[in-house]
Amino acid sequence: MIKEAEARKEFDLGGIVPWGRRFDEYADFFALADMPPEGPILDVGGGPASFAAEAAGQGQEVVACDPIYAATGDAIRQRFEETRSDMMAGLRLAQYRFNWTRYGSPERIEKIRREALELFLADFEARGRVRYVPASLPALPFADDAFQTALCSHLLFLYGDDLDAAFHVAAVRELARVAREVRIFPLVNLDGRPSSHLPVVMAELEAAGLFPELVSVPFEFQRGATEMLRVRKG
Ligand SMILES: C[S@@+](CC[C@H](N)C(=O)[O-])C[C@H]1O[C@@H](n2cnc3c(N)ncnc32)[C@H](O)[C@@H]1O
Repeated sequence: MIKEAEARKEFDLGGIVPWGRRFDEYADFFALADMPPEGPILDVGGGPASFAAEAAGQGQEVVACDPIYAATGDAIRQRFEETRSDMMAGLRLAQYRFNWTRYGSPERIEKIRREALELFLADFEARGRVRYVPASLPALPFADDAFQTALCSHLLFLYGDDLDAAFHVAAVRELARVAREVRIFPLVNLDGRPSSHLPVVMAELEAAGLFPELVSVPFEFQRGATEMLRVRKG
């Protein structure tokens, strides 16, 4: 079995990177077909994902927030390009750790990430900060229960080496303040191991009177990462 330090080296990203996914991927991360949100959605740490643009195109009320939205579209594109080679190198080195049924190859993933970037940038230029709010966890500029559902993809738990357990607890409590329901995916680290923060976060949420549960989703890329964390208020 590969040692943690070796696994970590496969993805030497130097921090939390802008690398965005498409609507159909979010739909599976968060089981949206089986459990459609009945109200406005907040995509937290949306980055250069095209989820908000595509969901809005389908008539969904949706807002995305991310600190990167304080930057220009050109600057976000440049950060994506800076990220690309490290991400692709990591995907190739760590191929054995992924289930390739959906994507086929690292090159196909790059193609999808570029599609997402272009869809995002077109919408970011058109809608600006009406749909894309510059904001960072663990303090969001939204009213209590402003959203039905907050989605958080590929930020919490995945970057568990960069963000400690206390940050995760504060972040998920903030998500549960601004939305009636929270969904987070994946629940593993960049090295593919189950996040050690998850039991801590679930215990703290329960102690705060919230209802966290693990829900199976119809998606697997990091092997074994087939559950989202869903948090409800009762
Ligand atoms: C790997 S990207 C994921 C983008 C998108 N959610 C997806 O899955 O396609 C992680 C994003 O989290 C954002 N981010 C980093 N720290 C954050 C924070 N404290 N609060 C909200 N977003 C943050 C980054 O700017 C980046 O765009």
